[in-house]
Amino acid sequence: MFFKNRNKKLKREMLTQIDRGDVPGHIAFIMDGNGRWAKKKGLPRTAGHMEGGKALLKTLEECMELGIKAVTVYAFSTENWKRPKEEVEYLMALPRKYINKYLPMLKERNVVMNFIGNIEALPEPLQNDIAKSIEETKDNNGIVFTIAINYGSQDELLAATKLICQDVKDDIVSITDINQDYFETKLFTNGLPPVDLLVRTSGEVRVSNFLLWQLAYTEFHFTDTLWPDFNQEELYKTILDYQNRQRRYGGLKGE
Ligand code: IPE
Ligand code: IPE
Ligand code: MG
Repeated sequence: MFFKNRNKKLKREMLTQIDRGDVPGHIAFIMDGNGRWAKKKGLPRTAGHMEGGKALLKTLEECMELGIKAVTVYAFSTENWKRPKEEVEYLMALPRKYINKYLPMLKERNVVMNFIGNIEALPEPLQNDIAKSIEETKDNNGIVFTIAINYGSQDELLAATKLICQDVKDDIVSITDINQDYFETKLFTNGLPPVDLLVRTSGEVRVSNFLLWQLAYTEFHFTDTLWPDFNQEELYKTILDYQNRQRRYGGLKGE
């Protein structure tokens, strides 16, 4: 357990409503609203990011308990470099803090750590910690925890296009053989299961360059809750909302 003090009574009551056989296999979170959370409390934006990190670990743990197989979180977008230097520096340092503190526990809890985005452009100490977390959890087979950092979906699609062009040039694939399955092997998310549910906190209703290809048939859940306040109750509500959806994939009801 990463954190204590969880509400046991609420947990029992809401858990009875959740169909454990129909939890989303893969949830993606756009963890938004850290800055506003801090502002509301008269704190610096960085305090919101720190608190957001705690909310993330708690959410990951709840997802594990629900039997969710994959969780992907948006930690830093290719557009977030536009923020003030001090905030960017903090956001580059924060994952290191969390990795160093919690990697042994993540390893022990059978978590497989994964990262998507332009990792090579990150500061070297962060790249080293990323490599360490991947290496140390590579033999695990529990939840796949993917952190999107310096991630932009448009960059990802461009990179995939370039890889495909190279394959065509090298005669590895012919143009007529380029299909969806092959295309997906060129994305950062290669090997991850389809994203069943996307959650965005803080009341913003946009995807902000996140998983544009991968969200084709994903269910969306938006909440006004700011990310640092996202908790077990919110997660359960989110799952219940998902379980009330009818996924049709362009087909008809009941098929
Ligand atoms: C999300 O919170 C975290 C990152 C984008 C890194 P924000 O920092 O965007 O918080 P708001 O949207 O300004 O409240
Ligand atoms: C999206 O949030 C990126 C992350 C959560 C890391 P932003 O706060 O950067 O998105 P916009 O600018 O409101 O679209
Ligand atoms: Mg934001």
